[in-house]
Formats: sequence, structure tokens, C-alpha cells
Amino acid sequence: MALRGLVYVSEARTEFGRPELLALEEHATRRNRERELTGYLWFDEGQFVQYVEGEAETVEALIRRIEDDPRHDVLHVLRDDELGERRFPDWSMQFLTRRSFHGLETLLADHIVFVESVRPQDVESHQTVWRIVDRVRDQQRRLAAQAG
Ligand SMILES: Cc1cc2nc3c(=O)[nH]c(=O)nc-3n(C[C@H](O)[C@H](O)[C@H](O)COP(=O)(O)O)c2cc1C
Repeated sequence: MALRGLVYVSEARTEFGRPELLALEEHATRRNRERELTGYLWFDEGQFVQYVEGEAETVEALIRRIEDDPRHDVLHVLRDDELGERRFPDWSMQFLTRRSFHGLETLLADHIVFVESVRPQDVESHQTVWRIVDRVRDQQRRLAAQAG
């Protein structure tokens, strides 16, 4: 079973206030648990960055549904097929905001800029995107260690 990681940036086309985000979180978390998909969804000022990982075909089926979702426009999609193990085994779909990840505000800006700027052939900048995803994971582990 080949694992695939996928990251994209999208722009909201409809209003995403707290109720809409909570409903999306509830739906995504439940469905992803059934499908053994993990990752995070970051929202700030009308832009989403989502990272999803799981069995390659399951990930592709999800990104097709997400791209068809009229509530947003998916702009850039990157795939990582070198994924040996999951980065976020415990997150069915963790919602992140500026507030929930204090200290990573600038990372969010980088995240959006890099995903948007990467050209398919540009391996170096792909690596930068995955390094950012890894930094989110490292931060998550630090927080989990503090909590536990
Ligand atoms: C920004 C964004 C992120 C989403 N992330 C997920 C997700 O991680 N998992 C999921 O099942 N649906 C997600 N959705 C919802 C899908 O676009 C779609 O509505 C859903 O997969 C419908 O199919 P279902 O009812 O079979 O789950 C997301 C939608 C948006 C706008």
C-alpha cells in the first residue's frame, strides 16, 4: 500500500465563519477517520492550506471531491510519493489557525507562498514545501510532549 502526501492552497468562494469551519471540521474528521486519511487544514483570511496523507488512491479520490467543492477554488496541488511513514498519524484532520499555532504565524505565510510558487519541475522548492510540513509536525510533537 503506497502512501501519498498531498498539499494544496485554495481560496474561499463562500463565507467561512466559525460555524462553517466547525461544520467542515466535523465532516472532514469523521470521513477521514473512515478512510484512514490524516493531515491538517489551515485557514486564514480566506485562504486554506491543506495537507492530506494516506493510501495514494484514497488521497486522489478525496482531492477530486475537494476540487469539485464550489465553496473554494483549489489553486496549487503538490504530491509527495516518497512518504515512508505518516507525518500526522494522530490527526484525522486537524484544524489550525494563527491562534492555535502560536509562533508559526510566519510559517503560514511561507506555506502559502511556497505552495503557490512551486513549478512541477522545480525539485528544490518542492523540498521547501515538505520541510514546512515537517515543521508543522515538529511543532505538533513539541506541543503533545508538553501536554502529556
Ligand atoms: C477546504 C476544504 C477542505 C476539505 N477537506 C476535506 C477532508 O479532509 N475530508 C473530507 O472528507 N472532505 C473534505 N472537504 C469536503 C469535500 O470537499 C466534500 O464536500 C466531501 O468530501 C463530500 O463527500 P462525502 O460526503 O462523501 O464526504 C473539504 C472541503 C473544503 C472546502
